[in-house]
Amino acid sequence: LSSTEVDLSQIQEGQIVTVKWRGKPVFVWNRTADDVAKARDVPVGQLIDPIARNANLPADAPATDENRAAKDREKWLVVIGICTHLGCVPIGHAGEYDGWFCPCHGSEYDAAGRVRRGPAPENLAIPPYAFVSDTKISIG
Ligand code: FES
Repeated sequence: LSSTEVDLSQIQEGQIVTVKWRGKPVFVWNRTADDVAKARDVPVGQLIDPIARNANLPADAPATDENRAAKDREKWLVVIGICTHLGCVPIGHAGEYDGWFCPCHGSEYDAAGRVRRGPAPENLAIPPYAFVSDTKISIG
């Protein structure tokens, strides 16, 4: 009823699509191997927010790329597209950290949707979702 299905076969490598879930934008990114490698290179200790913020994991899970990406399908990143500062919608493939740039006050997020420059205090939230087939996820 309040879940949203997304057909991943329509999303090309490197592409971020925006879908709606419960009235909110959700970004689904088919990350390249390079995107994933860069995100995995970042030590958690360097992050502004060291918590994964992944609704599919325990609340204290650390913000490694492994804990941010889809389980066993590391190229897929699914995040709620709402800046954790004051709720603007960040712009994809923008900013210095290979992820998103928020046009409202300049926060930047990396290729795992983790905040790398404030004022945003938290990583982009990851909604509950699951793979219902190899090429389809259900959010919610
Ligand atoms: Fe995104 Fe303020 S709402 S930086």
